[in-house]
Amino acid sequence: MVHKFLSHMECFTRSKALQNMGDNLGDYLKIIWVRHYPIHIENTNLLRRCYMSLTIAVHSSKGGTGKTSIAINLAGAYLSAGKSVCIMDMDSKGPSMHTFFDLDPECYINDYVLGNCSTEEMMHKIDTIDTSGELYVGFSDPDIASIREFSTMDRKWQTRILKRMIDAKKDLYSAGIDVVILDTSPGVEFGSVNAVAVSDFVLITIKPNMICFNSIEQVINGIYLMLDKKCAIVENMCPADHFSRVISSDLFDIPVMESISCMCDVACRTDDEILTINDPQHPYSKSVFKIAEKIEKYIED
Ligand SMILES: Nc1ncnc2c1ncn2[C@@H]1O[C@H](COP(=O)(O)OP(=O)(O)OP(=O)(O)O)[C@@H](O)[C@H]1O
Ligand SMILES: [Mg+2]
Repeated sequence: MVHKFLSHMECFTRSKALQNMGDNLGDYLKIIWVRHYPIHIENTNLLRRCYMSLTIAVHSSKGGTGKTSIAINLAGAYLSAGKSVCIMDMDSKGPSMHTFFDLDPECYINDYVLGNCSTEEMMHKIDTIDTSGELYVGFSDPDIASIREFSTMDRKWQTRILKRMIDAKKDLYSAGIDVVILDTSPGVEFGSVNAVAVSDFVLITIKPNMICFNSIEQVINGIYLMLDKKCAIVENMCPADHFSRVISSDLFDIPVMESISCMCDVACRTDDEILTINDPQHPYSKSVFKIAEKIEKYIED
C-alpha cells in the first residue's frame, strides 16, 4: 500500500536506510513505516480531503528553542482567523500547558493513550479566550509518577500509543477541529517520534547556533525524511547580528520559514499571554502569523 504513495525507488531506498539504522529508534521507525504508515497515510489523505484539517508537530532536537511558545501562539494565529484549534501537550517528560492555561483537568492525554478515557473527555475547551475560533487543549499529566511511567514505556506500548493518537486525530477532525498542534519534547524519544509520525507537517524550531545545527541535521535525516514528512525550520531567539548572515538556509535542504529575534519582553510575556491574540502587531506575533500562512500554503502545494 505504501507503494501507492511513494515511488518504488524511494521505497527501496528508505527501507534500506531503515534496515541500516538497526538500533532501537531505527527498529521503531521500521514498525511505524511498515505497520502503521500505510493505514495512517491513507487515512490522513482521506481525512484531509473530507475536512481540510491539518496536524502540525512543533519539534526540536534541543530543549528551550521556543516550541511551546510557538505552538501556543500559532494556535492564537489560527484562532484569530476563525479556525477551531486543538493543542496537545505531547511533552510527557516536561508538561507545561497546565501551567499556561492554569487548569487541573480530570483526564489527561496519558489517560487517553492508556485507553482510560475518550478523545472527548481528554480535550478541554478554553473559554477565557475571545476569538471567533474555538480552542481545545489536551494536557499531559505533570504528576511525577506519570512522567516516570511514560518515560519507561517500551516499544510495544509506544506502538499502541501511536495507534491511539491516529484515532484521536480522526476523532478531532470529525468533530470539526481545523488545526491540531502537537507540542513535543525535544530529541528523539518515542513520544516525539509518535507526534512527528501522526503530523502532516513538522515545524522545527532551532536557535541559530552550532549545537542546534549539528543536532537538527541528524533528526532531519534520521526521522523527518525517513517518515516522509513535510517540514520547515523556524530560527528563534536570533541575535541582532544574525540577520546579516542567515546561514541555516544554506545548511539544510528544507526551507527556513521565518527568523525571529530574541526579545526580552517575549521571554516574559509568553509565560501567560498569547501574543498573537493580545498583541497582534508585536514583531513576534507578526512572525507567527507569517508562519501560519506559509504552513497552509506549503501544505497545499
Ligand atoms: N523569540 C524569543 N525571544 C526571547 N525569548 C523567547 C523567544 N521565544 C521563546 N522565548 C522564551 O524562551 C524560553 C523557552 O521557550 P519555550 O518554553 O517555548 O521553549 P521549548 O522549546 O518549549 O522548551 P522545552 O524544550 O523545555 O519544552 C521561554 O522563557 C520563552 O518565553
Ligand atoms: Mg516546551
